[in-house]
Amino acid sequence: MFKLQNIEFKNILQIDSIELKEHVTTAILGSSGGGKTTFLKLLNNMISADKGTIYYKDKDINNYDPVELRRKVVMLPQDPEIFKGTIRDNFIITEKIADKKHAGDDIYKNILKQVSLPKFLEDKAEDLSGGEKQRLALARVMLLEPEVLLLDEPSSSLDQETEEKIISMVVNYAVKNSRTLIMVTHSPAIAEKYADRIINIESGRIIK
Ligand SMILES: Nc1ncnc2c1ncn2[C@@H]1O[C@H](COP(=O)(O)OP(=O)(O)OP(=O)(O)O)[C@@H](O)[C@H]1O
Ligand SMILES: [Mg+2]
Repeated sequence: MFKLQNIEFKNILQIDSIELKEHVTTAILGSSGGGKTTFLKLLNNMISADKGTIYYKDKDINNYDPVELRRKVVMLPQDPEIFKGTIRDNFIITEKIADKKHAGDDIYKNILKQVSLPKFLEDKAEDLSGGEKQRLALARVMLLEPEVLLLDEPSSSLDQETEEKIISMVVNYAVKNSRTLIMVTHSPAIAEKYADRIINIESGRIIK
């Protein structure tokens, strides 16, 4: 699904070659500041490599319309922005930004259930706790039904029990719906348990 060749980004990341296969769940581990977020951002062309080529489905990502690419490859940022207004507003704004058709309340409610967020669509998003906001942000990504989900520490604000629940849910979701999941996690245990493949990034390099 992705092939990276001779990638350099500033003096932050250097990758000779790596391939990420379709429908495989990949976990990315590594020390803080090692380049994990930078790696994810390169995959949907939020940032562009200074050297080398990234292919998505055998086509150079620079040859995709950026909007089209970011509709297929959606990133959940490490510190996602929550939109003003209600939970429903957050879903509607997400659809508008992605130019996606209106899914409606039943689908929103179903996604809230999937991410274990027992709130009403009328509830104010700003009043949610940090961990609840993180689940809402994940729900917005799932609403977009991307081919690839790039999740940057999706469970960093969650207690261990909720973390397991959310990660197992999203991994099952990816498998069932044939999505490709690439997630950064601080937890080697989560990576071992849920990922098909683990990539370690240290000081800007992939450690085999
Ligand atoms: N656009 C940029 N310009 C300059 N330096 C940057 C830029 N983006 C990231 N960095 C630096 O690159 C290094 C890697 O950052 P990155 O966010 O990828 O790390 P990370 O592995 O995700 O860390 P963490 O686990 O703390 O989230 C850091 O030292 C960071 O300060
Ligand atoms: Mg990071």
